[in-house]
Amino acid sequence: MSKEVNYSDYLQLDKILHAQEMESLKHGVNAHDEMLFIIIHQSYELWFKQIIFEIDSIAGIMTKPEVNDKSSDLQVVVHRLNRIVVILKMLVNKIDVLETMTPMDFLDFRDYLRPASGFQSWQFKIVEAKLGLKFEERYGQQYYISQLRDEQVKMIKTVESSKTLLELVNSWLERFPVFDNEAYWKNYKSVAPLVKGIHPFWNDYRHIYEQGLAEGEKQNAAGLKEIISGAGDAAFSNKAKRSALFILLYRHYPLLHLPFLLLNNLLETDEQLSTWRFRHVNMVHRMIGARTGTGGSTGKDYLHGALQKHYIYKDLLALNSFLADRRRLPVLSAELESALRFG
Ligand code: HEM
Repeated sequence: MSKEVNYSDYLQLDKILHAQEMESLKHGVNAHDEMLFIIIHQSYELWFKQIIFEIDSIAGIMTKPEVNDKSSDLQVVVHRLNRIVVILKMLVNKIDVLETMTPMDFLDFRDYLRPASGFQSWQFKIVEAKLGLKFEERYGQQYYISQLRDEQVKMIKTVESSKTLLELVNSWLERFPVFDNEAYWKNYKSVAPLVKGIHPFWNDYRHIYEQGLAEGEKQNAAGLKEIISGAGDAAFSNKAKRSALFILLYRHYPLLHLPFLLLNNLLETDEQLSTWRFRHVNMVHRMIGARTGTGGSTGKDYLHGALQKHYIYKDLLALNSFLADRRRLPVLSAELESALRFG
């Protein structure tokens, strides 16, 4: 018979609760707040582990070519993405707890920590890389991994060269069946004069969108034109962006609801990550002013740079500039309408 499960053994509390070694004590100093500092960081790392676990499971599902808007897989993806968002929200709020430590309390032990720094959180960089942040898009490329151990750099590089969540979502959007199925469009009644090489729906939509632009917004028309008929792709391809835009526009159809939630959760993930960066940089400013970080970066300047640059799903965010009033949307064919409803 197997051994009865015991709370402490199961959670390996022996290991976890003996894993807080205060550097200040090793120097004969009693810096009270160092305990809080250690526990906060450890709990962040545990949550990063959970986030990585969720991203991996989502990526595993999204890798399947048969994932579509009708499969139950999509529900699991949306559910787990939402869990990541909720965890991130909690991580943002945890900064409140650390901010009960004053700059003077921090100075009691700060110097004993050099050259260690949150910069060496390889899990954080793995979270960013798995979500889709590419090396080329990183701020401070020359040193973002300079403080890490060889095996940690290797792990990050492996992730960077594997399929990211962004790429998997891009492929899923490219497979989105709405525009490749001619049956949905043979009875579509176009409004604007047809233009060769442009799908009648997008031709109509472009007109509707442009009519709704205010005087100072006319330059936006070029952005939508690029998505509809441009040759250059960004992180998301134009084909994927067209599917995403269609989902955002027609999310009131039942079959587009989960795809909408998926996209929305990606935007929310980006927003929560950047909110965390913002709270972190403000805390850093308050804690160390203009001094350099223990990791040797320019401190708050580096963190500001990363805050500006590390949005991952900016192509999706940009689509919100190209939305038109719901009441003026092109009327879909009866065939497509019925395909977008359950049953
Ligand atoms: C007293 C509180 C804190 C201070 C003063 C502080 C300071 C800094 C500084 C100055 C940097 C820039 C790199 C360098 O060290 O030169 C940094 C990076 C970082 N810190 Fe903190 N930090 C604090 C708390 C935290 C906490 C609680 C976490 C949670 C895990 C954290 C995670 C990170 C991460 C992930 C980075 C790298 C960010 C990136 O590369 O974009 N920090 N921190």
